[in-house]
Order: sequence, then structure tokens, then C-alpha cells
Amino acid sequence: MSVNNIISIKTKTSEVFVGDEVFSVLNEYLRPYRNKKIFVLVDENTLKHCVTELITQNEILHNAEILEIDSGEENKTLDVCYQLWKTLADYKADRHSLLINLGGGVITDMGGFIASTYKRGIDFINVPTTLLSQIDASVGGKTGVDFEGLKNIIGVFNEAKGVFIYPNFLKTLDKRQMLSGYAEALKHALIKDASYWKMLKKGMLSDDKNWVKLITSSIKIKNEIVLNDPLEMGERKLLNFGHTIGHAVESYSLENDKIPLCHGEAIAIGMICESYISNKQHELSDGNLATITSTIADFYKSYPLNESDFHMLIELMKNDKKNEKNEIIFTLLVDIGDATINQEVNVDLILESLNYYNSLIGDKVKN
Ligand SMILES: NC(=O)c1ccc[n+]([C@@H]2O[C@H](COP(=O)([O-])OP(=O)(O)OC[C@H]3O[C@@H](n4cnc5c(N)ncnc54)[C@H](O)[C@@H]3O)[C@@H](O)[C@H]2O)c1
Ligand SMILES: [Zn+2]
Repeated sequence: MSVNNIISIKTKTSEVFVGDEVFSVLNEYLRPYRNKKIFVLVDENTLKHCVTELITQNEILHNAEILEIDSGEENKTLDVCYQLWKTLADYKADRHSLLINLGGGVITDMGGFIASTYKRGIDFINVPTTLLSQIDASVGGKTGVDFEGLKNIIGVFNEAKGVFIYPNFLKTLDKRQMLSGYAEALKHALIKDASYWKMLKKGMLSDDKNWVKLITSSIKIKNEIVLNDPLEMGERKLLNFGHTIGHAVESYSLENDKIPLCHGEAIAIGMICESYISNKQHELSDGNLATITSTIADFYKSYPLNESDFHMLIELMKNDKKNEKNEIIFTLLVDIGDATINQEVNVDLILESLNYYNSLIGDKVKN
């Protein structure tokens, strides 16, 4: 539905709003909290670039408490949660308080988890500010933090009371972060929508007129999947395409690199490897594998995977929360726009796919 240039998408228990005028709807949403304590969770970048806009556009937020954490995946931890729970308690937040998560996926994942657990759950609203969080992380009710080097291992399912997407926030986001978000859009297209893939292949980032289309296309795909399977018993696993290998690469990079990969950059690597596996173990054609590989490799910087660390990546995959028993489980592509869940893949083929990714880097250098 679109009213006053605001597009709304109904989710299981709430609603997502997208557009330049979303704050007028947020104002309505905030009215019941007028006399309650409201907290806004930010990191230093959303404090700098986004919080003033949010507060000036919503008079009820003039007295809100700002809770600031350091940016970055390395801060999506229980230690930071502890500090935030403590701050909420110090401010005497009660069960009627509201938390607004203003930031990227780290803020919406962790803020959602803080709110869902504090006093057995207070309301929270997501105002995502990165492309990745606008098209993916802020929607669908997955909240949580990393633990002992494993991604998203502690968390709960709980939807925000509302998600308010203001595309203009993307204007201060750098190209690298925009591309990181774009990886999730490519994933949405690959698992569900071949015509969306065709649009994405051409590139939709440089012209900001495309952003609303990009955001809403992705959210609609994700939301439809989540509505059918909110707790990831089956269909929702489609969204894990690229993430079995991608999460392992992301965790590895967080542990070993001075400047770690962004989530989407790791998922891009995961999608190339998992497309290779889809070609070897499933019906994904040679032609489609070649198109997927060259499209993704063109968008993202190469990241050579060290062969001596492959065993570490396999161990990380074995510990992934998506697995059952000791098997490594994948979502694989059957075609562009069509995927299948619960596919067990043996370690040799996974290693082969990592070598395939590395071989592209050689090709890139040669060209
Ligand atoms: N819950 C889910 O369904 C889901 C889905 C996908 C990803 N995720 C999670 O999302 C996280 C990644 O999210 P992300 O990529 O948004 O990372 P992020 O939150 O770390 O944000 C990336 C960087 O952009 C900065 N930033 C945010 N908004 C900005 C703005 N408007 N202008 C300038 N800088 C800005 C941040 O401070 C940070 O430095 C990962 O932890 C991933 O696991 C969750
Ligand atoms: Zn992801």
C-alpha cells in the first residue's frame, strides 16, 4: 500500500514503512509512549549522521535518553548487552519503556535482543540506517548477538513494534557499506526472483531513485518467506543461502583481520562458493554459475582464502547453529530464482568450492 509516498508492508505482528515521510507515521506510533521513558540506541556514526534528523522530526523524542555504543560487529556481544541492561536499570526503565534502535544490523540485532529480554520484554522500534539493515536485518524478528566467535548464537525471535525506513539515511553511508547491503539483495533475488536478479545485475546503487525499489523489493521477498515460516522450521532457511560458508568466513575474518570483512562481503564469498556447490550437487547450470560468479566477483573486492586455514573454516561451519547432528547443512540453488533447503554437503566438496573461489582471484589478477 502507498499513501503520501509512504509504502507500507504488513509483517506477522507489525508493519514496515518506507519513504521520505515515514516520520509522520512514527509520530503516531510514539504517541502512546508520550509519558513513558524512551531510549534511542545509537553508535558513534548514527549519533553523528542520523539522530538529529530522527529527534527533530519527532517531538516526543526530545526528552529521549540516547544510549551510545561503539560501532562494529566486534561489539555485538553479551558484554555490551550487560552494559546496556545495566544502563536501562540505572535509568529505571520499566516494562512500559520503549527502545528505538537507530543504526545498522548490529544495532537492530542487539537492540532487539536487549529489549526482548529486559524485564521479560519491552517494546522496541527499528529505524534502520544501513542498506543492509533497511533491506534485511531490521525485518523478520531475528534478534541476538555473537558468542565465543560464533555468529548470532544467542538470541530470540521477536518482532519490532514497527520498522521505519528513511532511505535518505543512506546518503552518508560509504560505498563499501552500500555494497555490503547489496549482497543480501542479490541473495533475495537468487533464491526467489529471477527478474529482480536481472535488475540487480545492472547495478541499482549509484542512482538514489532506485533505492526505494531496491528496499521494497527485498523486504517483500523476505517478508513473504518469514510470514510462511517465522521460526525457521523450513522455508525460512532459504534466506540462509550464502550464509553457511559466509558466516564462517565472517567469523574467521573478525578473528584474524585488522579490518574485518563486512557481513555482506563475507556473504558474497559464501554465495559464490555455494553456487559452485549448487552446480556440482544440484541442477544449477554451468551458464548460471558463470553469470552468478562473474556478477558477484565484479561487485566485490577479492579476499584470498588461505588454504592452511580451510580446516578452521570447516570447524566454524560445523559449529553453525543451522546444523543438525554433525552434518553441514546448506541452502542450494536449483536455478536463478529458485533454491532448495536442508542439503547436506560433504567436506571435500566444500573445500573444492573454497578453491574455486580462490581460483577466481587468480583469474582476476591475470585479466
Ligand atoms: N536479524 C537479521 O535478520 C539479520 C539479517 C542480516 C544481517 N544481520 C546482521 O546485521 C549485521 C550487519 O549489519 P550492518 O551491515 O548494517 O552493520 P553495522 O550495524 O555494523 O553498520 C555498518 C557501519 O555503518 C555505520 N552506519 C550506520 N548507519 C550509517 C549511516 N546512515 N551513515 C554512515 N554510517 C552509518 C555503522 O556505524 C557501522 O560502522 C550483522 O551482525 C549481521 O549478522 C541480521
Ligand atoms: Zn545476512
